[in-house]
Amino acid sequence: MHARLSVSRDEKAALELIGAYYGSVKYARAVLERWPRSWALVLSVDGRAVAAEVFYAVRLAVTACVHYYAVVAPEHRGRGLGRLLVTLAERECGAGIYLATTREDNAPAMRLFEGLGYRPYRWEGLPRAARDALLRATCGYDDDILYVKGGDPRVIAAVTGEVARLWRETCLKPYLGA
Ligand SMILES: CC(C)(COP(=O)(O)OP(=O)(O)OC[C@H]1O[C@@H](n2cnc3c(N)ncnc32)[C@H](O)[C@@H]1OP(=O)(O)O)[C@@H](O)C(=O)NCCC(=O)NCCS
Repeated sequence: MHARLSVSRDEKAALELIGAYYGSVKYARAVLERWPRSWALVLSVDGRAVAAEVFYAVRLAVTACVHYYAVVAPEHRGRGLGRLLVTLAERECGAGIYLATTREDNAPAMRLFEGLGYRPYRWEGLPRAARDALLRATCGYDDDILYVKGGDPRVIAAVTGEVARLWRETCLKPYLGA
């Protein structure tokens, strides 16, 4: 019998999966609670939540979609669920530009984004102003690599009022425990 796959926007289930892998959900929760254009997607197999993503849209020079947290339960990895999750988030978010950050030792994540047409940039390879704007827009301070699809990071980077507000509410304040 085939397994039944379903998609939902269950924020609670998404935070549980993210917490199980990342240990903390404070940034993911802050985005969902404080940023109006944020979403959670959950994939379930036979009714059990096994993959989740939290993503949001923010206006830089153009509106970009940020894949913030994406996780597939270990026993369900390598079967295309990560790819499906990111593709569904792209479709749902509906921006022309997509961003993600990861660490350079995370081969599955790098493969996932590169397989979907994202280009990698190292933070230190970007001009300072662009780097600062994109770090704020992604809260990607713990990561080494920025992935971009749909545009050039040097052209789209801009610290708009939205980026400043997003950074303050969902990156800086949770970092400070506020
Ligand atoms: C990254 C992650 C979401 C990928 O999920 P997944 O369901 O295993 O991914 P998929 O099966 O859709 O595979 C996507 C691509 O990654 C590749 N991949 C999957 N696991 C891999 C591994 N262990 N090593 C190398 N490549 C891997 C697949 O071959 C596929 O590549 P292709 O498109 O060239 O065929 C999953 O490994 C995970 O939850 N990791 C922990 C959390 C994390 O790192 N999230 C991303 C942070 S940005």
